[in-house]
Amino acid sequence: VHFEKHVVITVFGASGDLSKKKTFPALFGLFREGYLSPTTKIIGYARSKLSDEDLREKVRPFFKKPNGAEDDSKVEDFLSMISYISGPYDSEEGFLKLKEVIEKFESEKKVEAPQRLFYLALPPSTFIDVCSQLKKILYTESGHQRIIVEKPFGHDLDSATELQEKLAPLFSEEELYRIDHYLGKEMVKNLLLMRFGNTFLNAAWNKENIQSIQVIFKEPFGTEGRGGYFDSIGIIRDVMQNHLLQVLTLLTMERPVSFDPESVRDEKVKVLKAFAPIDFDDILIGQYGKSADGNKPGYLDDDTVKQDSKCVTFAAIGFKIANERWDGVPIVMRAGKALNEGKVEIRIQFKRVASGMFTDIPNNELVIRIQPNEAIYLKMNAKTPGLANENQTTELDLTYSERYKNYWIPEAYESLIRDALYGDHSNFVRDDELDVSWKLFTPLLNYLEGPDAPQPKSYEYGSRSPAGLSEFLAKHGYTFSEPGSYQWPVATPK
Ligand code: BG6
Repeated sequence: VHFEKHVVITVFGASGDLSKKKTFPALFGLFREGYLSPTTKIIGYARSKLSDEDLREKVRPFFKKPNGAEDDSKVEDFLSMISYISGPYDSEEGFLKLKEVIEKFESEKKVEAPQRLFYLALPPSTFIDVCSQLKKILYTESGHQRIIVEKPFGHDLDSATELQEKLAPLFSEEELYRIDHYLGKEMVKNLLLMRFGNTFLNAAWNKENIQSIQVIFKEPFGTEGRGGYFDSIGIIRDVMQNHLLQVLTLLTMERPVSFDPESVRDEKVKVLKAFAPIDFDDILIGQYGKSADGNKPGYLDDDTVKQDSKCVTFAAIGFKIANERWDGVPIVMRAGKALNEGKVEIRIQFKRVASGMFTDIPNNELVIRIQPNEAIYLKMNAKTPGLANENQTTELDLTYSERYKNYWIPEAYESLIRDALYGDHSNFVRDDELDVSWKLFTPLLNYLEGPDAPQPKSYEYGSRSPAGLSEFLAKHGYTFSEPGSYQWPVATPK
């Protein structure tokens, strides 16, 4: 393993939820697997008054040990690399302390070209303050700095543009790493390779062969505990404008010249520009109520939520891409909280084969399961073994847990932090990508939050969706197979 030595990683917002649950565990995961040098210095920074030991104890419970085994020596080694600094985000004092600590470390290690990674696990209201201080106090000309920022990157087109205008004079695009953690998921990272590395898929990936596309996000829990935050966000900003759009972009973009980050991101921007404006009549929106048994609370039962809130917790949105490849292909993105199950998947349904030989033969469908339990399966038709010449729908199945027994599949954050450490921007969001994605979604958000906002349909906590989803999908070209006619056998891993 090639190591970058003596890197300094500073995690801002170190006492917050995100860093506890994601950032520190990801750094530990990289270290555990041998992808983070033991010479790395990790500094937590936040306003709370904590000791080094307090921070270590806060983050420790979230570390994943290999295969559930106790491996305390690695945990201890890693924790000893962490220290803590307390300070404000909007004035110099803490940053001066930070500078002193970082420079002392770099001079002891005789580092000539400092490598500094700043991870901003912070609410966006503090981004600019922190970046200004970093620029003023901690900027290195001889080495490099990389700044990882977390969503939300704005609330709509105007606020995203404003944020970008303030960030741009401080740090270059080269220095900024905007995280969309979906881009770090194994299966999402597989999309380009799979599409462009397989002639049979690549050849069929167009309007001549594909009947409908769906990108689906389902969560089995509601906004319990984060209602106040979620109320001004809604499911569209929370997972659709960012995570699911990224997935859809990778599914629909043209072939990049190479895997080089800018080539990939150029193509992403290009296809995003070809998306037709969202038709406000082509949506199905919902908000969850209590569960059928009354045990789970409805969205509005949260005291921190406005009682007449029209916040959308489920949305299905129809998209069209006006280019040669996709013209006329119905695309649906749907996402919901408090549904009957948790999964994220892509469904590409192919057109029916010609009639004549067959009276009723199901459509091929390619399902890419992003989580849980990564899998790709293609529903296909084949002769039932035996004397009869009858079709039986079966599948070509790549279930990761079956096929890849001895592989480490990194967590999204592990993979992305590693990329940032090595300066690879491929799986980070570029400024112009952000701009087009907000242009696409802002009119719809304004409509859903404006004076004429429609009332979302109520659905029960734990149900499949609000009423009308099947009709919505059928209208978008999705053909349902006969109930009971086909079931993917590997619904749960062994
Ligand atoms: C986050 C959203 O960005 O993504 C959450 O804010 C959501 O509401 C989460 O639960 C989903 O991420 P994952 O990795 O659990 O699918």
